[in-house]
Amino acid sequence: MGRAALAPPTMSTPSPIERYVVIGNPIAHSLSPAIHARFAEQTGEALSYERLLVPEGAFAEHARRFFDAGGAGANVTLPFKVDAFEFADAASERAAAAGAANFLAARGARIEADNTDGIGLARDLETNLGIALAGARVLLVGAGGAARGVVAPILERAPALVVVANRTVSRAREIAEHFRARGAIVAAALDAIPAERFDLVLNATAASVHGEPLALPDRALQAGALAYDMAYGSAADPFLARARARGMRASDGLGMLVEQAAESFFLWRGVRPPTRSVLASLRGR
Ligand code: ATR
Repeated sequence: MGRAALAPPTMSTPSPIERYVVIGNPIAHSLSPAIHARFAEQTGEALSYERLLVPEGAFAEHARRFFDAGGAGANVTLPFKVDAFEFADAASERAAAAGAANFLAARGARIEADNTDGIGLARDLETNLGIALAGARVLLVGAGGAARGVVAPILERAPALVVVANRTVSRAREIAEHFRARGAIVAAALDAIPAERFDLVLNATAASVHGEPLALPDRALQAGALAYDMAYGSAADPFLARARARGMRASDGLGMLVEQAAESFFLWRGVRPPTRSVLASLRGR
């Protein structure tokens, strides 16, 4: 065999930096690239993570192009979480339960989907905010993809009751029916929420995204409970201001964003990044 036929030793070939993106529309204000840059810095992992704006209705085409070009993984945000789930060749149990995915990874020739939103919410509530979900009475407001994605991880922690309340009650009923075997969950219309003492009120609606008031009766917002908006930044302000005025503790969803990112990073890289320090620095503390 001539020397020219020898393949170069793989050891001396520098491994290319793996590429990740967050796909959404809009995407310009996503904090995910900043979060993953901090995770990479703190763990010493070499990777790139950028925003990818995709036109509505064109998710599969753009995702295919990204992975065909060697992309290693993607986070997916509004409005593409269902498209991401449908695009993947395989899905985790939690993504299948949600029918939506915020996570894609290239594993060999296959694209695998997962959903890290629910675990992100549960970790933020339990670890960062000190709320025990076990035994809690939870009011989940909204019945779109965002709400659906967090139901299974909440029920897994054995709350006393989850009431899923929605403007269009049929969508809430569909969720309650779908997850009935996993725990105590019932549906309600927004104007007919049962008179319970809730420990936690989660806003998973898109009301603030549409610049609309949330049609939730005041009696659902009880002093001493925690109000949590799954949106972050100014999108969470209207709900949180209203909750604070009612004497509630209030938190936006920035911690959920950081925790779902950490779970994604772990699934891609096999390394668990620190979250508390990253969350504190994003909050400017
Ligand atoms: P996402 O994937 O973000 O959940 P979605 O599927 O469009 O998006 O769902 C949006 C959710 O916000 C729904 O629960 C919607 O209620 P309807 O099912 O009745 O449409 C809720 N929502 C949007 N605007 C609202 C408003 N002004 N008041 C109350 N709920 C609202």
